[in-house]
Formats: sequence, structure tokens, C-alpha cells
Amino acid sequence: MSLIAVVCAVVGVVTAVVLHQDLYGQLDHALGGVATRAAGPGGPPPGLAGGGGRDDDLGFVLGPGQPLATLGAVLSDGQAVAGGISAGAASPGMTPLSTAQLAVLDRLAADPAGRPHSVDLPGLGSYRVVLTYRHLSGDQVVVGLPTADLQATMDRLVVTELCLSAGALLAVALAGFVLTNSALRPLRRVAATAARVSELQLHRGEVILHERVSAADTDPRTEAGQVGAALNQLLGHVGSALEARHASETQVRQFVADASHELRTPLASIRGYAELTRRGREEIGPDTRHALGRIESEATRMTALVEDLLLLARLDAGRPLSLAPLDLSPLVVDCVSDARAAGPEHRWRLELPDDPVLVQGDRARLHQVLVNLLGNARHHTPPGTTVTARARRQGARVLVEVVDDGPGIPPEARPHIFDRFARGDASRSRHAGSTGLGLAIVRAVVAAHDGEVGMASEPGRTAVTVLLPAAG
Ligand SMILES: Nc1ncnc2c1ncn2[C@@H]1O[C@H](COP(=O)(O)OP(=O)(O)OP(=O)(O)O)[C@@H](O)[C@H]1O
Ligand SMILES: [Mg+2]
Repeated sequence: MSLIAVVCAVVGVVTAVVLHQDLYGQLDHALGGVATRAAGPGGPPPGLAGGGGRDDDLGFVLGPGQPLATLGAVLSDGQAVAGGISAGAASPGMTPLSTAQLAVLDRLAADPAGRPHSVDLPGLGSYRVVLTYRHLSGDQVVVGLPTADLQATMDRLVVTELCLSAGALLAVALAGFVLTNSALRPLRRVAATAARVSELQLHRGEVILHERVSAADTDPRTEAGQVGAALNQLLGHVGSALEARHASETQVRQFVADASHELRTPLASIRGYAELTRRGREEIGPDTRHALGRIESEATRMTALVEDLLLLARLDAGRPLSLAPLDLSPLVVDCVSDARAAGPEHRWRLELPDDPVLVQGDRARLHQVLVNLLGNARHHTPPGTTVTARARRQGARVLVEVVDDGPGIPPEARPHIFDRFARGDASRSRHAGSTGLGLAIVRAVVAAHDGEVGMASEPGRTAVTVLLPAAG
């Protein structure tokens, strides 16, 4: 666009300059003719100056063949002393030049070479004038022609050029807009496909990537088509990679689920046999009794771990929950009673509304969430800690919160506290028999209910918040 503007400007300026020079050349030529006619027959015979007065010297401006508005003037001692302009056929005669107009012609005396000059005569406009012959008296004669016609031609040319350039620029702008628009349309469709893909949830679960650029936009002969084809190829690769990832995840999940399931029976047997032997009638020594007790407790712990792993594997696999409308209040009361029985050294408080707190939930899984949260508040805080369990409706959701005034979770452990096998204090927790799966299960169960889980912890206050969609 700017290139075209520059080209238009250059063409315009060059044309104007060439025409200007050409027209002035013609005018100067005509001026030569005027001078010749002034000096020749019809002009004042040389040597007559002083005889018939200076105005007679100017008679040539009315002579035959002289154009309209021909100017004549006499310079004496470097000063214009008389001058006139032929007034044309309509009013024969000569209009004398005023003093101010004559004064302008004075400077011609300084150019004896007799080159044409452009001068601006007050009240008459621009004139092309030249110093011609000299009388015997020493006076010099000036002839001139108006440049008004020439200027009008130049003005017309400039206006025409400006109009043409503006028209050309407008046409080019319009054509450019239409062309780029139609050329970019396929590219826009490709971009829309890319935008749709970018909105898909690709990071987890099974993703089937159906999105593709339409065949019409994958023509390899156009640039946009090449981009479309490349995007389709990329989407194909990403789709296969996602399928492979999902297959491998499913395989691992299935393996964990199968392994956990298979481990349950032998673990139950180990526990059973150990208990049987310990309680049997056979006399056994204290060491053996202790060993059997340890076998039993470790087997119990391992059973819990295997159950947790199995539950997580099933939640990961997206196994459907058995959802039903459920009032959380009695569930919270039951869980807190159990926790009070298990941890009588803690202070347990309940904050529940009078109305039922209804959610659409899986009773067994939500029971486990509460058991895990209350278990954490019991295991990871010293005796005497106050633990508050509350549930209430909050807009379209239900809030369940377990808060304790214990020492809190160490800051470095907080960001990963919901990860699997994450423990705040490894040595202490492991000793107490923790596995680090409790909060991971809480998060997975809540996510399966389309809920959210949050944690805020500082010394003196640790709160785990669960938000579930309300029912009813
Ligand atoms: N109320 C709490 N106060 C202090 N620390 C806590 C609290 N709740 C959790 N934690 C810290 O978070 C860690 C992770 O908790 P999580 O329930 O996931 O695992 P765990 O309790 O160690 O083991 P599990 O629950 O599987 O037996 C705990 O090890 C503990 O350090
Ligand atoms: Mg726990």
C-alpha cells in the first residue's frame, strides 16, 4: 500500500516537473517571438527613442501577431520608467503599468544576459519577462507574457493526478482487503480447529481426539492447506499418544487392582492362622506370642493398605459410585462417636444444623472420607487437642469441615499433602502405622462426587474442607 503511494507520488512529481519545464520552454519560445516582433517591423524603429516619447516605444505590444496581455516596458538607467499591457481585441489599447508594477521590473537591469525571468506583478499575477534590445539612447525594452494559462494547466494536472492517485490507492486497498480476506479464510478455519482442540481436557482419562481440519482445507498446493495438513498429522500423532497413555494407565490400574484383590485372601489367612495359633490351647512361649501378635497387627495394617490401594485403583478407573440422596448429619455424628471411642483423650465437638444436610452421595465412600479426616485429627495431634466436625449447606453446595487446634502440617509438606504416600513427618507417622494414602483417598472420593477439597493449616489450626454438590 505504502509502496503504491510512493510510486504514485514519484510518477506525479516527475510528470509535473517535466510538464512544467516543457510549458515554460514553450512560453519562453513565445516570448522570443514577442521580442522579435517588437524589434522588427511593427515595433518602434531603433533610434526613435526620445523622439516620440517613451510610450511610443511600447507600441509594439499592440502590434500584429502579439498575443493577448503582452507586456512591454522601458528601462532607463536600470529603472523601469514606462510600461503597458495590451488589453486585447475586446478593448483595444494599452493599460499602463503602475509604479509598483514597474518597480518589480527594475531588477531585470541586473541581468544583461537577457534570460527569461518569472516575476509577480502586483494586481496582475505572474509574468514571464525578458530584457530584449537596447535603443540607441541607452534605454532597454522589456517584453513579457502572462503565465496564468500555464499555471492553470499545471493546477489541472496536479488535481487530476491527486484524484487518480487517491482512486488507485482506494482500489488497491479494497482489492487487498478482499484478497487477503479470502486468502486467510481457510487459515482462520484451521485456527478454529486448533482452538477447539486446545479447549479439550487432554491431561487425563480417556481422550478420543476426533477434532480434525476439514479435507477442503488441507490442499497441499496452498500454504493454508499445508498448515491444515500438518495440523491434522499432529492431531493424529497426539491422538495415538493419548490412546497409548490411556492404555498403559489402564494396564497399571488393572494390575494394582488385581494385585490388591489377590492379596486380600492370603492376608486374611495369615491373620486368621496367627490369631488361631495365639489363642490355641497349645502352650507357647512369650516370644512366640509376641511374634504372633506382631504378625497379626502387621497383617491387619497390610490389609488396610491393600484395601486403600484397591479403592484408589477403582476410583481411578472411574468405577461408578452408588449415589443416593443422603443426610450427612447422622453420618458425621456416627463417625465422631467412633472417633471419640477410639481417642478419648481428644476433645470432640460437633456443629450441625437442625435441618438435614442433603447430598447426592455414596454413603460408604463418604463415611471413609470422614473416618480418614477424623483419624488424621486424632493420629497427628497430641492428646487434649480439640477436634470440630461441622457440616452445613452453602448455596448450591454442602460444606463438610474437620478442624483441629493441633500443631498443624509442616509447611514443606503442605503442597503435596493430597498426593499418594505423602506424609508430613515420615519417621513419626510411619511408626504410628500410617501409609500416607488417607488424604489421597479423600481427594479421589470427593472428585468422584464432583466436589472439591481444600486444606488450610498453621500451628494451632488445621482445617480440611470438603465441598459437595447439594441434593434437593
Ligand atoms: N490434622 C492434621 N494435623 C497434622 N498433620 C496432619 C493432619 N492431617 C494430616 N496430616 C499430615 O498429613 C500427612 C498425610 O495424611 P494422610 O491421611 O494422607 O496420610 P497418613 O495419615 O499419614 O496415613 P493414612 O491416613 O493412610 O493412615 C500425615 O502423614 C500427616 O503428617
Ligand atoms: Mg490419615
